Amino acid sequence: MAILRRGGLVAFPTETVYGLGADASNPAAVARIYKVKGRPAGHPVIVHIGDVGQLVRWAREIPEAATKLAARFWPGPLTLVLRRAPGVGSQLTGGQDTVGLRIPGHPVALRLLREFDGGIAAPSANRFGRISPTTAEHVRMDLGSEVDLVLDGGACEIGIESTIVDLSRGRPVLLRPGRIAAGEIAATLGVAPLSRDSDAPRAPGTLAAHYAPRQPLRLIESDRWERSVRGISHGRGVLSFRSPPEGDLSTMWIEASRQPNQYGHDLYAHLRALDSSGCDRILVEEPPATADWAAIRDRLGRARSG
Ligand code: TXA
Ligand code: MG
Repeated sequence: MAILRRGGLVAFPTETVYGLGADASNPAAVARIYKVKGRPAGHPVIVHIGDVGQLVRWAREIPEAATKLAARFWPGPLTLVLRRAPGVGSQLTGGQDTVGLRIPGHPVALRLLREFDGGIAAPSANRFGRISPTTAEHVRMDLGSEVDLVLDGGACEIGIESTIVDLSRGRPVLLRPGRIAAGEIAATLGVAPLSRDSDAPRAPGTLAAHYAPRQPLRLIESDRWERSVRGISHGRGVLSFRSPPEGDLSTMWIEASRQPNQYGHDLYAHLRALDSSGCDRILVEEPPATADWAAIRDRLGRARSG
């Protein structure tokens, strides 16, 4: 608490990924987040709050859709983009007229937020463009001594970042898929969210080439798997739904869960393990093109090279 109040950085667990937190109302503290992450300026950050009552401090308009989604999914893995209240710092909003808000569903995060009784700005606690951390150890490896404190809450339950829904322009827009699926948003609102379009507010974390391991990652369609990987045996790291063939020479072969929630929980830890296995390329078998895999397919699509 003292660290946050004096403008320091506290990494903390959420149910999605670890966040790199700073006092959202302290511009110098927020500037430090950018510096430590190596994130270019102009990227908005999510303001985490501990209570729905705090929405009015950050948003100048709370549409009915926001009230409904908050009641249904908060605390939880959902970020709402709303028109920002006057005085909300532009370093939080990337200079836009909106602010991203979420109440995370993790006991450690909630306790921190409620004791702090203010907004905590927190992007994922990784260096810009790299894989989000899902354990305290990942945070220490990525950011080490540049963070004042890392709160250890074990491995994140969900493992991929929150669903982001923009409610600042009338019709809801899904800016980033996540565990809460478009269908659940639609069922709650009675109207399906639009998918991102050129008009949507910028959400730079949703750029292609994000969440990337260092080694080149290739996604391979399941029915081409045998043919595609046959020629490549040495130097490969594999994430596949299959078990390794007899006498396999891969540097590392991880047999992935066929259950999307478990797959998402494990995904970033698996990518990190493959990345540091000494392989020179990572081959990933594409998950099915069904709604329950949408968020995972989104992240894999960004992790691939080229
Ligand atoms: O699960 C999560 O959302 C995690 C945990 C720590 O809460 N946070 C996270 O933050 O993923 P970050 O900064 O890595 O990604 C936030 C995404 C970025 O793509 C950013 O552009 C978008 O949210 N975003 C934040 N505020 C926005 C706004 N006002 N308008 C549009 N996009 C916004
Ligand atoms: Mg991030």
